[in-house]
Amino acid sequence: MVILKLKANKEFNYKMHHPWGNKDDFEKLSDNFFTNDIVEVRDSKNAFISRGYINPKSLIFYRALTFDSREKLENKQSFLVQRLLQCWLERRLSGYSTSCRLCFSENDFLPGLIVDYFKTSHGQVFVLQILSLGMHNLVSNPLALMEDLVSRAKVEKLGDVDWENTAVVIRNDSKIREKEGLTVSVPVVLKKSPVINLEDCQILMTHFYLQEPFVMNANLEGGQKTGFFLDQNYNLQRTAEILTQAIKYKQSCGIPIGTVKILDICCYLGQWSLYFGLLLKKLGVSAEFVLLDVSEEAINKAKANLDRYDINYTSLIMDVVEQDFRFEENSFDLVIVDPPAFIKNKKSIPTGKHAYQKLNSKALPFIKNNGFMVSCSCSGLLSLNDFKECLQKTFSRNLVRAKCLAQGGHAPDHPFLVSFPEGYYLKMLLHIVNNKISLN
Ligand SMILES: C[S@@+](CC[C@H](N)C(=O)[O-])C[C@H]1O[C@@H](n2cnc3c(N)ncnc32)[C@H](O)[C@@H]1O
Repeated sequence: MVILKLKANKEFNYKMHHPWGNKDDFEKLSDNFFTNDIVEVRDSKNAFISRGYINPKSLIFYRALTFDSREKLENKQSFLVQRLLQCWLERRLSGYSTSCRLCFSENDFLPGLIVDYFKTSHGQVFVLQILSLGMHNLVSNPLALMEDLVSRAKVEKLGDVDWENTAVVIRNDSKIREKEGLTVSVPVVLKKSPVINLEDCQILMTHFYLQEPFVMNANLEGGQKTGFFLDQNYNLQRTAEILTQAIKYKQSCGIPIGTVKILDICCYLGQWSLYFGLLLKKLGVSAEFVLLDVSEEAINKAKANLDRYDINYTSLIMDVVEQDFRFEENSFDLVIVDPPAFIKNKKSIPTGKHAYQKLNSKALPFIKNNGFMVSCSCSGLLSLNDFKECLQKTFSRNLVRAKCLAQGGHAPDHPFLVSFPEGYYLKMLLHIVNNKISLN
């Protein structure tokens, strides 16, 4: 095995189990290795630290796969299946029985591999993304890997669907691949199933607060990312808990509630609206939703998703960055602002911060007194503190008193490593907005 020896002053992060390494951290390397070799990192005294893979073409030269010297990596498929079964078990242990992210790259100790799992009423779909050269080399046969995983998952009672009713899609259309010297290609369906329509797939979602699973239509072949944003389910739950308390308090005091109005900005397939539509029905409260998104396909699917459950809404295809909103001021009980990542690289941090601030400012006037605002950012390069600063500017410049009631992030099916802050990307801040002033 190729040994990479660390310089003495570069060991700390590796010993703290940070999964990434720079080329400069190592003593002079021989040219005598291939990028599909598993390499072993040792400290300056030659003690084992980790094993992983390298890519000399990438800024992230080294990525760790294991910090345990006993773990065998020779049989690549067996190693991957073991790791994926562990991920699946962890999802089951944290309550997921239907659709969820099954593998979250570095955060699941499988750097460069995303696997989203979508359960349907008769089958299941795995959507894979391979984002690094090392993972590309490890997953030499994705279909055989998934077949092995499905049969082992059945034996271990993690999954209950046969291979025949399983579809597999590989989404290597992410631009991140270019940074690894990999090609960006169109999505490929590796395996179809007669019980699944991938372009309009009825996925089953379980949300802990609502409990009963519900169905949403998603395009798992051509939709954004892997077809669905699975990462929001903790934030949905946290917001639902607070909204429920507010409604129950008003009900208990006899305060008229009327129709609850919710504005869903950047709605994609309408999961926030559908979730709160189902919640408010359960609470016996009438509700109206306004959904905005620039994508016509997203809006059409969102409409179908809300129609299925008879939820009242209006929808608008609009660019929320370029266009102004025209709604009645102080009219919404809850406004959700969940835009795309405005920050794609370090250079765009200042403009991205400004974009978050501007979009949240545009949404503010439409929130009722004592209404709620959910603000999200999925830009990994924006720290939680910087996101808070964007909102601080939003509130102070608009002379609005807002208090943060809850802070969220990605859900338990998107675990994170305390040793790897770079892997934490989603931030959610839930504010109560108070815009009444005393004139005495
Ligand atoms: C992070 S996703 C939102 C996910 C969604 N809220 C959910 O929970 O599933 C961002 C969404 O913003 C939409 N979008 C991107 N740019 C936009 C723009 N300029 N105006 C309106 N929508 C935009 C995308 O089509 C996508 O649906």
